[in-house]
Amino acid sequence: MGITFNEEAGIFKIDAPDTTYMLGIFDDERFVTHLYYGKRIVDTDVNYLYGPVYQVRPSVLPGQAGRIMDTIPFEYPTYGCGDYREHCLEVETLEGYHACDLRYEAHKIYPGKPKLVGLPATFEKEEGECTTLELICRDKTLNLKVTLLYTVFEYLNVITRTVLLTNENEKVIYIKRVLSGCLEFDHQNMDVLTLHGSWERECGPVRTPLRQGKVTTGSTRGESGPTDNPFLAVLDSSATEDVGDVFAMNLVYSGNFLGVAEGHHFRGSRVVMGINPTNFSWKLEQGESFTAPEVVMVYSDQGLGKMSRTFHDLYRRHLIRDVYPDTSRPVLINNWEATYFDFTFEKLTEIAAEAGKCGIELFVLDDGWFGNRNDEKRGLGDWFVNEEKLPGGIGRLSSEINKLGLKFGLWIEPEMVSPDSELFRTHPDWAIQIPGRHRSLFRHQYVLDWSRKEVRDYIYDMIHKVLSSANVEYIKWDMNRTLTETASAALPADRQGELCHRYVLGVYEIMGRLRNDFPSLLLENCSAGGSRFDPGVLYYSPQIWGSDDSDAIERIQIQMGASMCYPLSTIGAHISAVPNHQTGRITSLETRGYIAMAGTFGYELDITKMSDEEKKTIREQVDIYHRYNLLIKDGDLYRIGDPFGNRDYACWMNVSKDKKEALVTYIQTHALPGFFGSARKLRLKGLEEASIYEVKIISESKEVRNEEAHTEGGQELGDTCESLKLSGSALMHAGYWMKRLSGDYMGMLIHLKAE
Ligand code: GLA
Repeated sequence: MGITFNEEAGIFKIDAPDTTYMLGIFDDERFVTHLYYGKRIVDTDVNYLYGPVYQVRPSVLPGQAGRIMDTIPFEYPTYGCGDYREHCLEVETLEGYHACDLRYEAHKIYPGKPKLVGLPATFEKEEGECTTLELICRDKTLNLKVTLLYTVFEYLNVITRTVLLTNENEKVIYIKRVLSGCLEFDHQNMDVLTLHGSWERECGPVRTPLRQGKVTTGSTRGESGPTDNPFLAVLDSSATEDVGDVFAMNLVYSGNFLGVAEGHHFRGSRVVMGINPTNFSWKLEQGESFTAPEVVMVYSDQGLGKMSRTFHDLYRRHLIRDVYPDTSRPVLINNWEATYFDFTFEKLTEIAAEAGKCGIELFVLDDGWFGNRNDEKRGLGDWFVNEEKLPGGIGRLSSEINKLGLKFGLWIEPEMVSPDSELFRTHPDWAIQIPGRHRSLFRHQYVLDWSRKEVRDYIYDMIHKVLSSANVEYIKWDMNRTLTETASAALPADRQGELCHRYVLGVYEIMGRLRNDFPSLLLENCSAGGSRFDPGVLYYSPQIWGSDDSDAIERIQIQMGASMCYPLSTIGAHISAVPNHQTGRITSLETRGYIAMAGTFGYELDITKMSDEEKKTIREQVDIYHRYNLLIKDGDLYRIGDPFGNRDYACWMNVSKDKKEALVTYIQTHALPGFFGSARKLRLKGLEEASIYEVKIISESKEVRNEEAHTEGGQELGDTCESLKLSGSALMHAGYWMKRLSGDYMGMLIHLKAE
């Protein structure tokens, strides 16, 4: 079993293949303290680790002059009793007092992993994969029971944590702050890695040296957001993609979150993560419990690459419930960048017909099919088809698309309402607002109060009706604005701080109902691109639209950034038209394909306007997708070089679990002059040292063919290594000469097959 208790030493030991995590019950006062997290060790008594720092106290015995709480490495630090570092828990009594002090009371160790009520979480797939420790602590004055839950995935370097608060007092307790987990380190020689960006520029890694002080990431937007992702890692200052210790946290939550890494005044550091305490409070009546979202902790002893692969393995098997578990998901075509709001039944079916001829398998109708939604100013909330635009409704359209041999999918944005809509005219109080205060409009829309059951049920019934009227096999669930002026007409004053969390719970409830009622439906989430790209959403949706920036070159960084913790199979990526609508950049169709294949793969352009030669390329791309997608979906990802610091090229590999096959994607983002300018020898990764691989270029970018965007073809630079046989050791240590490419944004796919 991965969790043991050394009773004499008072120490719990959590073991994963290359990881040990240890916590103890600290002397007579029974504080629950952190002892060790890192590479696996064999000892079960490591009390010596408390070391000089924690022994130096003005008082050695309880009841004497006092102790410095600020030096103790608490497992779940609380506010109010002398630990001034970042804390996880703050509560308020009816009298307005804020102190809380937790002591160990009991524990349980058992096989399996408990479910979290109302919240998404990772799960055990087969018996024997997980062991759980429940550590019960109590603040005696408050009679607040705090259960710390740890689950280890025995074959992965993953430990998950959460906390359950139960009010066993007869009086109400208000939770002001409840974070999900904490890590303690006895040094500060580390960097902090977080993912930041903005709309159309999501998931950019930012590495900051940790010093005394704090590095934070977080959201108060009501969703996880595009500016900060609920991910934070601390790593050795010298750690790279392949070397060094990394300790990462990722919150399984889709609302306001906070992550903080703090270098504190005793030269140690602390990392915490959980629901953002800003505008949060929760009223806990006698006997009631509150469950915090789960935080996933990954330890890697081999840099960021292994950290990412561990997250990918965990999420693919223990979080995502894929409706296409053993096959590729269908290649889709979405009409958004092809038509925006300006479409007719005929135009849509023409696109579907051409797409079908190219092997595309799913047609997705995006925004604009319902109510009076002819532009972005109106119609949200009126989830009934606009028969003027689509005579015969979604039923007729979907059956026409099915006749053309494609599946049919539909866009919805159920959490929103336009002021110009029947719904808003009937129920203006259903939109989130503070009475007497200006209500902000973003993208001409308000947010519905999904903390209210009647609001959720009403919207869900409308959408259920549409889905039941037609053969809809895919849904794109969008969310195009953040929450502002948050107040609910249905909550009393002392519960207004619950709104943002209740909103997220409401979203999870409806996504859960949708999955239950339509089990074969492929759900893709989207929030103005990747503004709600988090593990909470992945529990319901196996894929999330990566960014509203569909430019292939921009997408390299966005997708590689997201791949820090999310598998490529979750990142919605499409080939769009050139010049690209967001950047004006022109790239070849092949290059756009290579980059979209490092994602879910699909098209978002007007295929009826493409030349026969381009359609032939599309057929080849669909074929390549089907040949190699399982390698990308289920294999191991290796990022080669530095996709973030290097402007000249990008390269990544997908290697099958048995290491018998690999696909290398190489894109020259910036051509350089001279014979050696664009010659690059790259060291491949993840192969079997002794195996002999046949290495073959299977596809290469051609000059740009688009008429609007004509560019001259590149100069032929001659062949290097187009097909050869080499050992894994040579490819990984001596390296592989990439074929020289002429021109920016040219690329290729290289396939490796072991003999
Ligand atoms: C958001 C999405 C886009 C598209 C539009 C439709 O911006 O990110 O992909 O669906 O909404 O309005």
